Amino acid sequence: MPATGHDIGVGLISVGWMGRLHTRAYQTLPSVYPDLKLRPHLVRAADTAADRAAYARDVLGYAAATDDYREVLADPAVDVVSICAPTGLHREIGVAAAEAGKSFWIEKPVGRNASETAQVAEAAAKAGVVTSIGYNYRHVPAVERVRELVGDGKLGRITNVRAVFFSGYASEPKGALSWRFRRDLAGTGALGDLLSHVVDLVQYVVGPIAEVSALTSTVYTQRPILPMGSGTHFAVIEDGELGPVENDDYVAALVRFAAGSPGAGAVGTLEASRIIVGPQCGLGFEIYGTDGSAAWNFERMNELRVCLGRGGPHAGYTTVLGNPHLGDYGYFQPGPGNSMGYDDLKVIEAKKFLLAVTGGERRNSTIEEALHVAEVISSAETSAEIGAWQPVRAVPGATFGHSARG
Ligand SMILES: NC(=O)c1ccc[n+]([C@@H]2O[C@H](COP(=O)([O-])OP(=O)(O)OC[C@H]3O[C@@H](n4cnc5c(N)ncnc54)[C@H](O)[C@@H]3O)[C@@H](O)[C@H]2O)c1
Repeated sequence: MPATGHDIGVGLISVGWMGRLHTRAYQTLPSVYPDLKLRPHLVRAADTAADRAAYARDVLGYAAATDDYREVLADPAVDVVSICAPTGLHREIGVAAAEAGKSFWIEKPVGRNASETAQVAEAAAKAGVVTSIGYNYRHVPAVERVRELVGDGKLGRITNVRAVFFSGYASEPKGALSWRFRRDLAGTGALGDLLSHVVDLVQYVVGPIAEVSALTSTVYTQRPILPMGSGTHFAVIEDGELGPVENDDYVAALVRFAAGSPGAGAVGTLEASRIIVGPQCGLGFEIYGTDGSAAWNFERMNELRVCLGRGGPHAGYTTVLGNPHLGDYGYFQPGPGNSMGYDDLKVIEAKKFLLAVTGGERRNSTIEEALHVAEVISSAETSAEIGAWQPVRAVPGATFGHSARG
């Protein structure tokens, strides 16, 4: 059942990095957005690792904890569920959440492939529940501003886009073989884990992708095994037993944007790597149009570089710092130049989710948009296998909020 009023019972499935972060977002939301009068209550959490379930109850403050996610879905006091399990469990848990009538906020990528995402989308549509996806980088105030500039035509006709996610979490050859490196638990590697963020971001800012050509590579083929529910995927294990890396470390893709969106006719180059040395959490883009351009990178999240117009005394880039004119910045900081951080993005995401659940504004990312991202990733995977361009299946309803500009 959808929540009624503004008291919302929260269930959490998996208490890893994202599970804790979703929880902090629910806890912080009422003080950042007091006027919305949204009051999340932490009802029940589940994790198969006993110490993590206990942490959810004793430290995070859930009223109850369990090792079985089904108990979270069966609890009538739970109105909404955060699904933060490893990617390989998303299909099973997402479908079960929908069948239990719970609206859910699920981490990206939703499932190991487009077929699994489609099954979650179908179950959510059948049950009529609200969905939100963990594509947190959309909510960066600078990113929201670039989306406005593109949508308003301030950059002119978009000609080309360069976007990357260069994350060094597995740059150490002895970096842990977490679930992320296994096909049964994660599906693809850098493709699903990192390029999915890039794809969502450029589709959110510029428009849906229609065609893709890609290649992938695996640089380290063995790593020391990390048991599920222990450590993090940043861990380095010196003398552990080795296991095979089953998916890609690096992906490069050439894409064409679909007709009927601000990006119509534009091309893009997208890359992702989890073994890169240098960049740490380098998710960024450059967007070029006939009248201007914009560049942003998460490692300098609060800085936006814009160039509007071709000449004049200020030709070239201007750096704009975070300020209350951009996105939700003003809810977090009173004046320009004060930094926001990663956790704040999840607070904005929680707000968009719970507003949609309680019948308010619908600016949440949806399972249809997650499916479109999954279709791009799936086409990229096929393209890398067969060495040819692949069309991307369009997903009805996945407009990323864009309408065609005249
Ligand atoms: N939005 C983002 O920026 C972002 C960042 C990191 C991870 N993610 C996504 O979030 C999801 C979780 O990643 P993470 O980094 O938090 O993982 P993690 O390894 O930190 O945590 C996963 C947790 O799931 C638990 N678990 C395993 N099997 C379970 C089961 N059957 N029932 C309940 N719990 C179970 C584990 O014990 C562990 O505590 C993944 O889909 C990942 O792709 C998104």
